[in-house]
Amino acid sequence: MKILLINGSPKGKRSNSLRLAESFIDGVRAKIEGNAEQVTVEKLDVASLNIRACLGCFSCWKKTPGVCCIKDDMQTVIQKMLEANMVVWSFPLYYFNVPGMLKNLIDRQLPMSLPFMSKTDSGYGSGGHDSRYDLSGVRHILISTCGFYSAEGNYDSVRNMFDHFIGKGRYETIFCGQGELFGVKELASRTDEYLATVRKAGSEYAVGTISDEVKADLKKLLYPRDVFEKMADASWGVSKTTGEKEPEDLIFTRQMAALYNKAAYDGKDRVLEMNYTDLGTTYQILLGKDGSKVFTDGSQTATTRINTPYEVWAAISRGEMEGAEALGKQLYTVTGDFSLMMSWDTFFGNAANDANGSNSSAGGAAGAGCAGSVEGAARAEKVSMNAMLIPWISFWVAVAIDTRIGSVIAMAACALVPLIMRNYRLIIWDKLSLAAVAVLSAVANFTGNGDLLTNIGYLVFGIFWLGSCFTREPLCAAYVKYSYGGEKALRNPLFMKANYILAACWGILYVLTAVWTFFLRKAGFGTALIVVNNIVPLVMGAFTVWFSKWYPAWKASGK
Ligand SMILES: Cc1cc2nc3c(=O)[nH]c(=O)nc-3n(C[C@H](O)[C@H](O)[C@H](O)COP(=O)(O)O)c2cc1C
Repeated sequence: MKILLINGSPKGKRSNSLRLAESFIDGVRAKIEGNAEQVTVEKLDVASLNIRACLGCFSCWKKTPGVCCIKDDMQTVIQKMLEANMVVWSFPLYYFNVPGMLKNLIDRQLPMSLPFMSKTDSGYGSGGHDSRYDLSGVRHILISTCGFYSAEGNYDSVRNMFDHFIGKGRYETIFCGQGELFGVKELASRTDEYLATVRKAGSEYAVGTISDEVKADLKKLLYPRDVFEKMADASWGVSKTTGEKEPEDLIFTRQMAALYNKAAYDGKDRVLEMNYTDLGTTYQILLGKDGSKVFTDGSQTATTRINTPYEVWAAISRGEMEGAEALGKQLYTVTGDFSLMMSWDTFFGNAANDANGSNSSAGGAAGAGCAGSVEGAARAEKVSMNAMLIPWISFWVAVAIDTRIGSVIAMAACALVPLIMRNYRLIIWDKLSLAAVAVLSAVANFTGNGDLLTNIGYLVFGIFWLGSCFTREPLCAAYVKYSYGGEKALRNPLFMKANYILAACWGILYVLTAVWTFFLRKAGFGTALIVVNNIVPLVMGAFTVWFSKWYPAWKASGK
């Protein structure tokens, strides 16, 4: 298959539209070459070709049929058009049409048409000319970005023109608004997602037509209109009120503010203060019900303050550095209300999702992440601490009530956990717990010594927690990491330290439980254990919830 890619952007290689066109061709290539056919791609950058405007002399029809009198690069273009099986027209929208230099190329195709009036109708009731060559097998796709928030309603002239010269329904289109965002690194997670859909479209088109599902995805806005328009306005670097040029860090802060997802508003106005320590500048972003607003005069009372070198924050936003990792290394500090950092992705990461209700993260900003709740983890990825706790709790409760019957119940619980938790992935601590509880229950049933075995259970449980502190993943982190970016969380020093401390605390608590249970039973205070052994884990649970919030905030403040 021969593909001719015509890049009609005056920006040449820096064209946004070209990025889409190249992704599309990647998709075609993947599909065709997967079927063991060769794909060759000829790329023509119109901006670097010498294609003069048509003189309107009709020499190519009268004097030298099929040959233009202007000797420039257009002869090569026509030759390549005649050889291609697929032509990809890549161009930006200029004044609701193609850029002038591409229009020149289109006009200069006149030698490819016959001069005679044709009855062929493009559906508009206008006249037309037949092609000099049989190009009926050539497929055409138009790929273009434009600057407004949506492509809708902007491409009428383009469609009309191509309907006339290629034929209505004889070409496919991918038109995308917010085109300039494809050049913004900070937004790569959203634009890459779009490019992946374009690639998919290419693969489908290579062997048929683009599916309705992919077409619907291609029509989705990159960001909601208000978010995009705020970002676009800020990107010019010129004050809307004074018309004066604005400093880079202020432009950056305005763009960050534009990404604020007002759907995350929880009834509380927040003021995020960005203090760029290397530049000595401070800006405040009011995050409210109706959106965000940037203040340069310090008039607001900050609720969260980020003290950071400008370059660090910019690198985080570009995805070159992880926000949480940088915070852990104290490359920046945070004071005030830390809950904003804990929910950074909710406040700044989901604007793209809101445009179309999709699930993926727009990313681009610095999520802090730290030790968090077990339930959160279970929702985020299919692992659950319940798979580990159910065997232990059923063992301790049931065997304490009746050793023989209780141990059978505990064994049944072990057998049922893989079934009850079948929608969850069992991790090493789940499997070890199942094995340990099954063995302890069997021994309890055999010996009838429930007291000793529940006590050994406390010790084993404590050893699991303590043992995990010597691995790369403390026990609780193995479950909650999925709420903090999965494996990425393991590179977050705050997350890891908090979880190591908590795992050690739980480990020590259960080893001590085994010790005091042993001595209290010996001393005849067995009933006191019912109170002590149930209250202490509750207190520890409350401590865990508090510590997992307090510790990251305390460390983030640079103390
Ligand atoms: C001269 C000029 C005219 C433009 N006219 C329009 C327009 O009519 N509608 C629109 O949505 N965007 C318009 N734009 C914005 C471009 O279409 C947009 O920036 C596009 O993403 C650039 O694509 P490229 O990087 O492939 O050249 C115009 C840009 C320029 C420079």
